Amino acid sequence: MAHKALIVGCGGMGKGWIKNVQGNPRAEVTALMDVRIDAARSAAKEFGLDEGRAFDDLERAITECRPDFVVDVTVPEAHCSVTVKALEMGAPVIGEKPMAESMESARKMVRASEKSGKLYMVSQSRRYDVKHVACKGALKSNAIGPITMVNCDFYIGAHFGGFRDEMSSPLILDMAIHHFDLCRFLTGADAFAVYAHEFNPKGSWYKGDPAATVIFEMTDGIVFTYRGSWCAEGCHTSWNGDWRIIGERGTILMEKDQMPHGQRVVDMDQESFNRDLEDVQVDEVEITGTGIGGSLNEFLDCLESGDTPQCECHDNIKSLAMVFGAIESSRKGQTPVRVVKE
Ligand SMILES: NC(=O)c1ccc[n+]([C@@H]2O[C@H](COP(=O)([O-])OP(=O)(O)OC[C@H]3O[C@@H](n4cnc5c(N)ncnc54)[C@H](O)[C@@H]3O)[C@@H](O)[C@H]2O)c1
Repeated sequence: MAHKALIVGCGGMGKGWIKNVQGNPRAEVTALMDVRIDAARSAAKEFGLDEGRAFDDLERAITECRPDFVVDVTVPEAHCSVTVKALEMGAPVIGEKPMAESMESARKMVRASEKSGKLYMVSQSRRYDVKHVACKGALKSNAIGPITMVNCDFYIGAHFGGFRDEMSSPLILDMAIHHFDLCRFLTGADAFAVYAHEFNPKGSWYKGDPAATVIFEMTDGIVFTYRGSWCAEGCHTSWNGDWRIIGERGTILMEKDQMPHGQRVVDMDQESFNRDLEDVQVDEVEITGTGIGGSLNEFLDCLESGDTPQCECHDNIKSLAMVFGAIESSRKGQTPVRVVKE
């Protein structure tokens, strides 16, 4: 029997989730909920659901429709109240990133999952991408030796309108969470210290800071540098960003959404200025579902087996902590050392 889903939040991404659930043979959309009832009703109409299954009250939607799980696709500020309520009412939750708008809310969500004994997984869609899975496989097989340095560049001139234009840290909270989480996914390392400088470039159409440079110290001696802007016109990177991962023996690049490729030293004992290099073999991989299709599949697998998925809330809070560490560093604004020429 298909798992019945209640989709909460019927904006742009909410519609993506309706399609995602409807396209999965193991799941079906049983109801829609949005604080804007018109949004829930018009999504019901658009996706061929009975308008009587459109709600503007979460408790009533869960009581009347008894979903097997809830998909939380609301704005970040609403994730905590929606997810905690669903867990308390006995429904497992798969929710959109970022987990919450503060660490305090995120910890509350983790506690609600523990108390209810119900699964709460955050959907980090970038983990379900053949390029990223292939890259992780190559790194794990020691193709370039132990990782020492990871750099990610992300530049898009994004004119969203809506909540992102009003947020104080739109890039770091709403976008860089993908890249920070991806760094943890690729390296298997966690961040323990951060320096960040967020800023609002001249000519920006954002209220908050859509650009940042961030340096993380990660476990295993890895340094991760992130440079990003949502206010960069021209020469965009892909939404996944361009990556350079350096290990003791070589380098892997993931750029322009192409399959990763790289080079490594043939003989680590060779004594010369540049050592001879060979191409790194990055094997193709098969995955069950891309993007939110992949995260939904993993969530359903774990509902059925009782296993713990990637990005279960106890793990995903570590990616969120990178976000709030970066924001705190940036707000504190460590006094920069002056560059003196004489
Ligand atoms: N994985 C991805 O690639 C990806 C892409 C886009 C958005 N997202 C995430 O999806 C989430 C939603 O983004 P969006 O672009 O759809 O935003 P949106 O503003 O288009 O839609 C959000 C919807 O949530 C509703 N809402 C707000 N508070 C609510 C509450 N308490 N209960 C029920 N509904 C409520 C709003 O009325 C709105 O319809 C965000 O967390 C965003 O970061 C993820």
